[in-house]
Amino acid sequence: MAKIMNKAILGLLNLLLLLLPPSLRDYLWAAPSEHGVGQQQQLQVYHPIILVAGFSCSDLEARLTDAYAPSLPRCGALKGKGWFPLWNDTMELVNHDYVPCFEEQMSLVFDPVVDDYVNQPGVETRVPNFGSAYGFTVKNESSPFWCNVKLRNELEGLGYRDGDTLFGAPYDIRHAPPRPGQCSKVYTDYFARVKDLVKHASEKNGNKAVILIGHSFGGRLMLDFLNSTPPLWRKNFIKHLVLLSPTPPIGFTETLTNLASGPTCIPMETIPRLALRPMWWSFTSSLLSLPSPTVFGHEPLIITKHRNYSAYDYQDFLAALGFSVKGTLPFKKWVDKRVEAPMVPTTYLSGFGVQTPKQVVYRDDNFNVYPENVYGDGDGVVNWNSVLVFAKELKRQQSPENILFKFIKIRNVSHSYIAIQDDSLKIVIAEILEANS
Ligand SMILES: *[C@@H]1O[C@H](CO)[C@@H](O)[C@H](O)[C@H]1NC(C)=O
Ligand SMILES: *[C@@H]1O[C@H](CO)[C@@H](O)[C@H](O)[C@H]1NC(C)=O
Ligand SMILES: *[C@@H]1O[C@H](CO)[C@@H](O)[C@H](O)[C@H]1NC(C)=O
Repeated sequence: MAKIMNKAILGLLNLLLLLLPPSLRDYLWAAPSEHGVGQQQQLQVYHPIILVAGFSCSDLEARLTDAYAPSLPRCGALKGKGWFPLWNDTMELVNHDYVPCFEEQMSLVFDPVVDDYVNQPGVETRVPNFGSAYGFTVKNESSPFWCNVKLRNELEGLGYRDGDTLFGAPYDIRHAPPRPGQCSKVYTDYFARVKDLVKHASEKNGNKAVILIGHSFGGRLMLDFLNSTPPLWRKNFIKHLVLLSPTPPIGFTETLTNLASGPTCIPMETIPRLALRPMWWSFTSSLLSLPSPTVFGHEPLIITKHRNYSAYDYQDFLAALGFSVKGTLPFKKWVDKRVEAPMVPTTYLSGFGVQTPKQVVYRDDNFNVYPENVYGDGDGVVNWNSVLVFAKELKRQQSPENILFKFIKIRNVSHSYIAIQDDSLKIVIAEILEANS
């Protein structure tokens, strides 16, 4: 009886809390504790949540079959030994001198027969722990709160539980969702699984609609996922989309530096980024968010001694890099930069006021040295101009249909810290609560 009373009172308290003006609400919200926000905020859980973390967070397992021909004998050591974690701990890879093997086994090749990117012969892969909010792991000890760890703690503090009301949809980081006219078996499968997960999460919670929360690349994926579903399905199953610093389809400068100098988003202690460049080039995800001409225009993005490259000059820039992947590169297919709004209630949160590379300078024409950056506004990764154009376009598409689109800019919060830094984490949680109401 006391328990029921308690629940009712808590429910009422929550309702009151939500009705308060934001400033007061913030005041009542004590500083987040290690186990989530304090007792007084314990909410009844309303809508199930699916979390999707940023680029470096999903794991990948591999299995090597007889068809695998390792370029170094030791890379074949796990042949025939079943599934093993290929990408879940960068220290392990470095300590076991497995990085060259990792690069070989992670790399994709283009298969013209199926017109799609596939694993190397003899390498099978799978993403473990699909469905769990714990399906994302931090690969690098120096950033223990990455991958929505803090956000997950906060949600658990509010009463969310993994597998009951809280879920996760890890993905294969190497692939990109297909543009129109392309095929991607990996993404056909992934989107089908996310759709099933949404349905499962909803059914498990009295048919309540689901809240999708995606950070960075994960936000982009949720947007593409929703666009792959029928409008009526979205309407029935999706309560809200929360985008945390999503990577915009219209691109940002860092994608170019990643192509030229290797990925910043695959942090690996003691291994220079440049060493990871060949592997990076084989991922279709590396070409996903190139700056769009409509946003970046003719402004030089890559500056070298003899030639500058703008968003119109990718073919030449990639040729100058010596960019190639095994097989052919259907590059033209990747430059579709269309923004399609999710057409579900959406909250978009982004930081700004952080130094963000807008141009990169190679003093000579040598792309094998790290460039100097020229900085502009943004969240440290995504250029502010790109954020504004993206958000405006989403709003423009949703407004005529009267579908909520809320854009929240947070000063001095960087791309990776939007759901980590206390002040902005508070804002993120407040928006998630509001999406629940
Ligand atoms: C990686 O996976 C292995 C085997 O599943 C596990 O023992 C290990 O703890 C994982 N490492 C991390 C950092 O999650
Ligand atoms: C490249 O752009 C920079 C900065 O806008 C400019 O100063 C330089 O003259 C340009 N170089 C070439 C070769 O066009
Ligand atoms: C943002 O950061 C700048 C530079 O570090 C600082 O001068 C400014 O006071 C900060 N603004 C806010 C609102 O925190």
